[in-house]
Amino acid sequence: RQQLTTIPTVVHVLWSSDDQNISQDQIQSQIEVLNADFRAQNKDKVDVPDCWTGLVADANVEFVLASTDPDGGATDGIIRKRTDVTSFTVNDRMKSDATGGSDAWPTDRYLNLWVCNLGDVLGYAQFPGGPADTDGVVILTSAFGTSGTATAPYDLGRTATHEVGHWLNLRHIWGDKNDCSGSDEVDDTPTARRPNFGRPTFPHVTCGNGPNGDMFVNYMDYTDDAVMVMFTAGQAERMNAALDIRGF
Ligand code: ARG
Ligand code: ZN
Ligand code: CA
Repeated sequence: RQQLTTIPTVVHVLWSSDDQNISQDQIQSQIEVLNADFRAQNKDKVDVPDCWTGLVADANVEFVLASTDPDGGATDGIIRKRTDVTSFTVNDRMKSDATGGSDAWPTDRYLNLWVCNLGDVLGYAQFPGGPADTDGVVILTSAFGTSGTATAPYDLGRTATHEVGHWLNLRHIWGDKNDCSGSDEVDDTPTARRPNFGRPTFPHVTCGNGPNGDMFVNYMDYTDDAVMVMFTAGQAERMNAALDIRGF
């Protein structure tokens, strides 16, 4: 597909202490990062090494806080809920009213984004094809957006970019195997041995991928927010195929 896809997004803010009830400004800052990153309009794409600038891709996806709720009423796309759960884990309890979370809006029409305390996990996502009622993305409160509670080095909104990449069927660029046998099923991302963390120096060669090495500037690696700055054309193609399947 070539046309722009706009995804209505609902943000579920789950808080057990006042500071977790993040501001409108912090929520908006995350939406802005998603829109910049998925349209390749992020200013820091100038940091992509020359060898890969030709691969930087506009995924043609944008995100807007929902203006209509599932019943057709007006909404600002934000649900705020106090919870007795002081810390969630990757078990989806934040996705249901019954377990101290907030029920998903119909996942064939909205991107559901839950923001909550996840302990030491930055975020997680459900891949396409999973159960409808748990579909969406979860982000740790302190890794969400670029203001308020957002905390370095995860304060540039890239956790959500990475997780929405998973939600649109992208795999980690090292293929989750740590022995060069894994693949992300995308041809234009170099094979890499394992995740990169922090701020690597270019090039970081593994798996015979020299001279340019691992594409640690990709959103689907594990580097710091300031380091991950691009999707490739192959990744954009894979995400658009997922959008077709999702029916957006
Ligand atoms: N560990 C998480 C995952 O595998 C996200 C990592 C995001 N990294 C970041 N720099 N924000 O989905
Ligand atoms: Zn991931
Ligand atoms: Ca690849």
